[in-house]
Amino acid sequence: MSDLFKKYNVQGPRYTSYPTVPYWEISPDQNQWIKLLGEELKISKQAGRGAAIYIHIPFCESLCTYCGCHKRITKKHELSKPYIEAVQQEWQNYKDRLGISKIDVSELHLGGGTPTFMTPDELKQLLEPIISDFDLVEGYEFSFEADPRVTNYEHLKALAELGFKRISFGIQDFDPKVQEIVNRIQSEEEVARLTEDARELGYDSINYDLIYGLPLQTQDSIKRTIGFVSELKPDRIAFYSYAHVPWISPAQRRYTEDDLPKGEEKRQLYELGRKMLEDAGYHEIGMDHFALENDSLWQAVEGKTLFRNFMGYMPKHVSPMIGLGVSSIGDSWTAFAQNEKDLDKYQQLAAAGEIPIFRGHVLSQEDLILRKHILNLMTRGYTDWQQNDRFTEFLLQLDENLIEFSNDNLIERAKNSITVTDKGRAFIRNICMAFDARLQRKRPDTQMFSKTI
Ligand SMILES: C[S@@+](CC[C@H](N)C(=O)[O-])C[C@H]1O[C@@H](n2cnc3c(N)ncnc32)[C@H](O)[C@@H]1O
Ligand code: SF4
Repeated sequence: MSDLFKKYNVQGPRYTSYPTVPYWEISPDQNQWIKLLGEELKISKQAGRGAAIYIHIPFCESLCTYCGCHKRITKKHELSKPYIEAVQQEWQNYKDRLGISKIDVSELHLGGGTPTFMTPDELKQLLEPIISDFDLVEGYEFSFEADPRVTNYEHLKALAELGFKRISFGIQDFDPKVQEIVNRIQSEEEVARLTEDARELGYDSINYDLIYGLPLQTQDSIKRTIGFVSELKPDRIAFYSYAHVPWISPAQRRYTEDDLPKGEEKRQLYELGRKMLEDAGYHEIGMDHFALENDSLWQAVEGKTLFRNFMGYMPKHVSPMIGLGVSSIGDSWTAFAQNEKDLDKYQQLAAAGEIPIFRGHVLSQEDLILRKHILNLMTRGYTDWQQNDRFTEFLLQLDENLIEFSNDNLIERAKNSITVTDKGRAFIRNICMAFDARLQRKRPDTQMFSKTI
């Protein structure tokens, strides 16, 4: 395996979308975006599905130096009020332009940044009017991200009253040395107490975010973290590979590359965590995720309905996705649209009645086909193609792209399909890259993505 880790440890996307953001070409304008969104809403309604709504709250009180998310570090809580007004205005702009007063919804996700930067009352003020416009589809799910350091019982209670049943706690690592170097100190007791509170309040799905590959992490720190996590038994675990992208997140330069476990050493941290989680009753899901047997994510794996988008893995196909808030990404299935990343500009545009898009991409026929294959690989470790898929020139050259993976026993080939082997799971991003026509045609000439291992 050692040689394989060296061979395949190259920069590569994480495929939360295809095409990946750096390869987006022509953005839809506001009218086109609304038209495509309206079409997908109709398709979704006919299929008995609802839309996904993502709301981004960018504020965090302090900077975790590893963080690659879009956030604004501030202690000024007075920023919340104008932000709430802007998000509500943006929602109104969508309704006006789509010509609707109600919308079928199956997912609401509150992410960040840190949603619980806002007070429980502010969260209610933000969400109540938006939720009142939802026609909820059976089996709907409301979820949010909670930083244990700034989340209290009142937050959990307020959001439970609004219908939230899923919660995702940011944990990352419990080792004090690791916590110090990444500037994120939080105790095991704090997390245990909040987990207990959440269960008491009726949250029926709890997720923990962990990261492997952080500075100063060792086999011992992983043992401590996963050992404690296994005792608390969250329903799901995201065990993310640390993305080292200091050209995008300069705070990652506060530690040196020498502090980082890399290549095979990094992968061994994952393998240790995986073994411990499997021993504790978890199943590996897609890439870097785990779930208990009774969790809907594992049931989705068994029922072959697992889906993935910008919000991560979910049990079934949900589309379209409307992203509200600064930097949020929307997905109409045929196009992507990302909001302004600058807070002031975002707020001004929303107030002016605009849909505050700053970039996006309208998918070509080829993009739509390749998106399907990459999604299959990321969710099922398998994909197949029919003769009529062949009209994409690109699929004709696939054989050539896949030979190396077959030779290294990372995939099993049949005439028109591939299956990722157990050995190949560590290289799933590399395998997806073989289907990424845009990347194959123009390899990045600067640093663009994190390393695949
Ligand atoms: C928006 S943050 C979580 C919410 C909340 N702000 C918190 O920290 O608890 C989403 C997750 O992204 C993951 N993440 C952030 N930066 C990362 C990086 N550089 N590499 C891998 N995962 C990262 C972390 O696991 C984090 O919990
Ligand atoms: S990990 Fe969470 S709390 Fe830390 S900086 Fe990133 S978004 Fe903010």
